[in-house]
Amino acid sequence: METIGKTIFDSIEIRGRKLANRLVVAPMTRVSATPEGVPTQEMADYYEAFAAGGFGMIITEGTYTDELFSKTNRNQPGIANEAHVHGWKRVVTAVHEYNVLIINQLMHGGALSEMTGETIAPSAVQPVGLRATDNTVFPSPFPMPRAMQTKDLDAVKAGYVRAAMLAHEAGFDGVELHAANGYLFDQFITPHTNLRTDEYGGNERNRLRFLMEVYRAVKAALPADFIVGIRVSESKVNDLTYRWPGGSETARRIFEILAEIDPDYLHIAAEGGRWERECRYPDGTSSNSIAKSLLRSPVIANGGMHDIALAEALLNSNAADLVSIGRAAIASPDWPKRMAAGEPVVPFFKELIKPSLTLAHARRVREQYNTSTLC
Ligand SMILES: Cc1cc2nc3c(=O)[nH]c(=O)nc-3n(C[C@H](O)[C@H](O)[C@H](O)COP(=O)(O)O)c2cc1C
Repeated sequence: METIGKTIFDSIEIRGRKLANRLVVAPMTRVSATPEGVPTQEMADYYEAFAAGGFGMIITEGTYTDELFSKTNRNQPGIANEAHVHGWKRVVTAVHEYNVLIINQLMHGGALSEMTGETIAPSAVQPVGLRATDNTVFPSPFPMPRAMQTKDLDAVKAGYVRAAMLAHEAGFDGVELHAANGYLFDQFITPHTNLRTDEYGGNERNRLRFLMEVYRAVKAALPADFIVGIRVSESKVNDLTYRWPGGSETARRIFEILAEIDPDYLHIAAEGGRWERECRYPDGTSSNSIAKSLLRSPVIANGGMHDIALAEALLNSNAADLVSIGRAAIASPDWPKRMAAGEPVVPFFKELIKPSLTLAHARRVREQYNTSTLC
């Protein structure tokens, strides 16, 4: 009998919530909120286009969680007060018109925050790389962060819980705890940015402790069907070549420990966009396949997943349940519909994500391309 393989267009459930397909919009910072972090009508239109375009679930850009040290980029949206809730309601309402799930990515930049005079981190370790949000011509080194004390840990955790409650109030279907790409939780997970000698530093269990405590606190504060996912990665925005020092052994240990909280989903990012390079190990395994073998919850793969052959190979080799698509979704918000119909798509080009470009301008650039040279 012929076995029909899984496709990206098959439906799936997360926490009992049905998605029309396995295509997720990856979180992407677009620096388009007001200076106070309030989502705009332009953002509602931007997110609505993905829902109309056939994605099964949308994860928002990284959203800051408190008014203390979490804000990372200028014009980043927040979910820290009622004005933020009001702005996000517009976005959520527009997306829900299409029966598409929308998840708010909750993000604390830690040592990589570019908007706070003082930054906080697990330890006082100056990040590698340069901060470039406000001055791309003359980027400057990141400042030395202050090592977090118990009261800082408590404040960050309280910020996440409150942010998740506000996200629920705004109508979101869930939140994603951003523990990837070099930001605060990832600074705890990474040995060279976490030199702590207390229960939050040292072995993998200790380095994951803060993330797991926050996850549990968020889960306990929200209704059971409110999705709480986690995103992890090896590469970082300020160090794209970073890999976990022990390779597949470290991955196994990390996912064994995360399996104890069994997050509603696990999203494994390839920040640089190349799954093969960022998620594969020399022994032939991958972070995705190891996570799938240890967790009960769905695993989302990322990094060049607009390559349908690669995406479906991961689904069919039990290395992923869903795939998230970043740059290709910006270029073609209706990527799923076009793919299903066998129509050409707009290819990604860098101008579309220029920080100086408003979302409306980016849309015009894309549409111009759209009508002239489709590939
Ligand atoms: C403009 C831009 C902004 C991004 N912002 C975020 C973000 O806010 N949070 C996050 O976890 N990843 C962020 N990423 C990483 C993407 O989610 C994704 O991991 C990356 O683009 C690789 O996927 P792709 O090959 O499908 O583009 C961003 C990527 C881009 C291109």
